Amino acid sequence: MRLDYDGILTKASLFIVLGTAVYMSMLTLVYSGQLHSKSQDNVFFIPVTSDIKSNTVVSCYYNTPDNDGKQLLPASIDPHLCTHINVAFARVIDKKIHLDEYQYQTITELCKLKQENPALKVLISVGGAGEASGFRDMVANHASRKIFIKSIKTILRNYKLDGIDLDWEFPEVHKLYKMKGSRERQHFSQLLREIRMEYLREKRDYLLTVAVAAPEAIVDVSYDVQQINNYVDYVNIMTYDYHYYTKYTPFTGFNSPLFSRPSESLYMGTLNVNYTVNMYLNKGLDRDKIVVGIPTYGHSFTLVNADNPNIGSPASGYGSLGSLGFVNYPDVCLFVANSNVRVIFDDHAKVPYLYKQKEWTSFDSAHSVMEKAKYIKDNRLRGAMVYSLNADDYEGKCTSKTNNTILFPLVQSIRDTLITKSTQDVILV
Ligand SMILES: *[C@@H]1O[C@H](CO)[C@@H](O)[C@H](O)[C@H]1NC(C)=O
Ligand SMILES: *[C@@H]1O[C@H](CO)[C@@H](O)[C@H](O)[C@H]1NC(C)=O
Repeated sequence: MRLDYDGILTKASLFIVLGTAVYMSMLTLVYSGQLHSKSQDNVFFIPVTSDIKSNTVVSCYYNTPDNDGKQLLPASIDPHLCTHINVAFARVIDKKIHLDEYQYQTITELCKLKQENPALKVLISVGGAGEASGFRDMVANHASRKIFIKSIKTILRNYKLDGIDLDWEFPEVHKLYKMKGSRERQHFSQLLREIRMEYLREKRDYLLTVAVAAPEAIVDVSYDVQQINNYVDYVNIMTYDYHYYTKYTPFTGFNSPLFSRPSESLYMGTLNVNYTVNMYLNKGLDRDKIVVGIPTYGHSFTLVNADNPNIGSPASGYGSLGSLGFVNYPDVCLFVANSNVRVIFDDHAKVPYLYKQKEWTSFDSAHSVMEKAKYIKDNRLRGAMVYSLNADDYEGKCTSKTNNTILFPLVQSIRDTLITKSTQDVILV
């Protein structure tokens, strides 16, 4: 059995590279007053006149398969599961959007799902962790951004796609140590504006979305949130990877806690979904542009002491579950079926963790993702982003011993909570 961790690793590896060393040094700067959050880069301000729709969003990232082993293929995705599918990831090479040959084939296959669900939107997601240099080179001036925008238009037209999602991780962040006056943050806003202007000029209702960081220290440096708010349809916030094992953070913790726990204060109290959402609201992101990221993967740890399995306990490395600490949901549920595995749902953070001897894993369950979807609904946010379809139980392994196999149980739970079932479903139930 081979599971697909590669996409997850690509996405998250930059977090690992940056690690807490960066967080901590940024914090030091923030608290010592050296790193000021810039106010709005006041260089342009145009109203966006296109009528941006406000339907509920369930945007799902789908990592394109390579030719290796058993993987999730487009034909196995229920066309009604997500409202939007983001094909991950295209790269920026020589200022142009670049996809590999097999990725083009995947896009063609994925778009066939629209025959069954014409409302389904398929977007290309550009970037991901480790792909920042292509962006840096491309945003630098108007002429190079123009080359990029032209290449986007060609792909959107030729493959009948619905839009693009920009996932630059992260503007300015590589320059943090130098503290020189880079203009990447401003150039990113300009890129968004120019793409929106081009859509308007062409009278196309293509979508423009971005995937953005959760930690406040990165947000302050990387984004002019009000400018982003002006030009995008909605924002996918990567509200996960708040805690995972690194040698700088050798402690257990939750991948994606919804709320803080009473024992957490100051910096620790900011590492949760609720804090991040309120931070973006305070920085001027509209409620109906906030799409909250929900992970289908968890993070595993090896406890130093099996007798101390609490949250925040010392850890000596990744757990044996998953790959480099990244655990897909089916691996979690199959492990939970073993004897002597304790599963505890934290009532404050609203997420579960499991342990058995020295194995400790933070994960999301059908219950915890439902809590997050309820939070999204209660706070009248736009919807949920899921990372990723590949890490959910797309083969129904978790329910294979019952008569009612459920495919994609986590995404299903999110969808059912956010989008009221159709009358037909209600009658059938
Ligand atoms: C969510 O965040 C807001 C703003 O920071 C805070 O006032 C509220 O108490 C938080 N909710 C919970 C349940 O922690
Ligand atoms: C599955 O269905 C069979 C036949 O309808 C029934 O006898 C059995 O108890 C069911 N098993 C479970 C786990 O529900």
